[in-house]
Amino acid sequence: MKKKDSQKTNICCIGAGYVGGPTMSVIAEKCPYITINVVDLNQERIAAWNKKDLSKLPVFEPGLSKIIEKVRGKNLFFSTDIDNSIAIADIVFICVNTPTKVKGLGAGRASDLKWVESCARRVASKSTGHTIVVEKSTMPVRTAETIKIILQSSQPMNPPYKEKTFSVLSNPEFLAEGTAIKDLEKPDRVLIGGDDEKAIEKLAEIYRNWVDNKKILKTNLWSSELTKLSANAFLAQRISSINSISAFCEVTGGNIIEVSKAIGTDKRIGKQFLRAGPGFGGSCFKKDILNLVYLSEYYGLNEVANYWQSVINLNNWQNQRISRIVIDKLFGTISGKSLAILGFSFKANTNDTRESPSINIAKDLLEEGAKLRIHDPKVSIDQIEKDLNLIEFNKLTDKEQSKQEFSNQGSWIFAETIEKAFMDVDAVLVLTEWEEYTNIQWKKLSKLLRTPAWVFDVRSIVEPNTVIQSGLQLWRIGEGSVS
Ligand code: UDX
Ligand code: UDX
Repeated sequence: MKKKDSQKTNICCIGAGYVGGPTMSVIAEKCPYITINVVDLNQERIAAWNKKDLSKLPVFEPGLSKIIEKVRGKNLFFSTDIDNSIAIADIVFICVNTPTKVKGLGAGRASDLKWVESCARRVASKSTGHTIVVEKSTMPVRTAETIKIILQSSQPMNPPYKEKTFSVLSNPEFLAEGTAIKDLEKPDRVLIGGDDEKAIEKLAEIYRNWVDNKKILKTNLWSSELTKLSANAFLAQRISSINSISAFCEVTGGNIIEVSKAIGTDKRIGKQFLRAGPGFGGSCFKKDILNLVYLSEYYGLNEVANYWQSVINLNNWQNQRISRIVIDKLFGTISGKSLAILGFSFKANTNDTRESPSINIAKDLLEEGAKLRIHDPKVSIDQIEKDLNLIEFNKLTDKEQSKQEFSNQGSWIFAETIEKAFMDVDAVLVLTEWEEYTNIQWKKLSKLLRTPAWVFDVRSIVEPNTVIQSGLQLWRIGEGSVS
């Protein structure tokens, strides 16, 4: 086993996901003097991070592959050698997932901390000398306490009885997927929570390589943990608020784009994060609010719990109402009709589909017997199969295909191009705001659709006049039918 080098800082990051991968890449680029080992239990994921072909990285983020090209193999390494990487690390970042519990106490709401706990145990067992343990993953408030207890109980039972020491810090990540590199390079703030001044300073020193000291906020552990949960809850709340107004606009004749623009000019409200859409998705918002709800109930704060739960309820409602509107406009039935779905990721510029509104909407449409033609520039066919829990039509045997042709069950195919998605469909649903969907040649492509055909612009990104002049009917979020 290698030894710690007192001259050089060595980082181990456990979890090579959407948070760990991009964050460590930026630290490696900004701090060439630091060696970083990003480790993960998932061998396939690590192999993908090490692929020569940079278009095959497991995480798609604009600007990421350029950085990887520069630092990978120099001071940034991806491996499955968790134990050795922990042993030589001065700082261990915990970037593993904390999904919502599916069973047991708090199921459906509380976070499952089993991965965090097993990481803490592994750090406790394999670390040497003094180690700073940083929780980067979003955790329920007071998780650091659990990590501390596990670490403290890890003094060696066998000779040479060399004492291990730990400092636990909370350093939540605020990056948004799709803009991760930009967010990491120019963060609004870096938050470090803890009670060990020396450890806080060591971490702050790393960030000071590219972040202004004024932006580095130091708090106690609990404030830091709670800030991350509340920041996500506040952001999600804005989306549920604007989505509720979008439904209002559709029935009253208001136009949500005009309304959001006008609301956003108020300095106290601000113009960002006010785009109406199919509902928020992503790995954080729902999970973190559910967590806040669970914790509020735990502490007997039922009104607080109900308040935040309503943000989630409204989001589920927004997902559902989209499929209902589509069915309604297509004469009350979509059974056997073909529909093009444009966009499967939870937002543009990422290949992540966790909690994507497209999943719920597609499932609702399939349930009604629709034949979906799904297109996304970055999401793979295998990922869509997993999310819909339904095999792609072309992958079925001839016998299975013909069975499905005549059943009422919906089916889906993967469309490699927008043109393929448009073949003989009755409607096009724009569900993700990918740039290429803003530039669709409607005049040319409308000929591929059946008539009469609808375009449902659930992100308000298509140019309405061009769609209408192409002989198509248009429905837009927060506006309704456009004529
Ligand atoms: C996740 C959560 O979604 C987010 O809330 C939290 O703040 C950080 O962790 P993300 O990086 O997007 O964010 O998760 P994911 O892409 O699932 O990556 C986690 C990685 O950790 C996976 O690759 C998984 O294999 C790995 N892991 C998990 C370990 O290496 N060891 C474990 O014990 C558990
Ligand atoms: C979010 C937070 O922004 C980030 O700070 C935190 O670290 C993790 O959670 P992320 O989930 O990656 O990041 O994406 P974000 O850009 O916040 O979008 C979340 C969802 O809200 C997406 O589905 C997006 O389409 C939706 N959204 C966002 C809207 O519908 N309208 C908006 O105006 C903004």
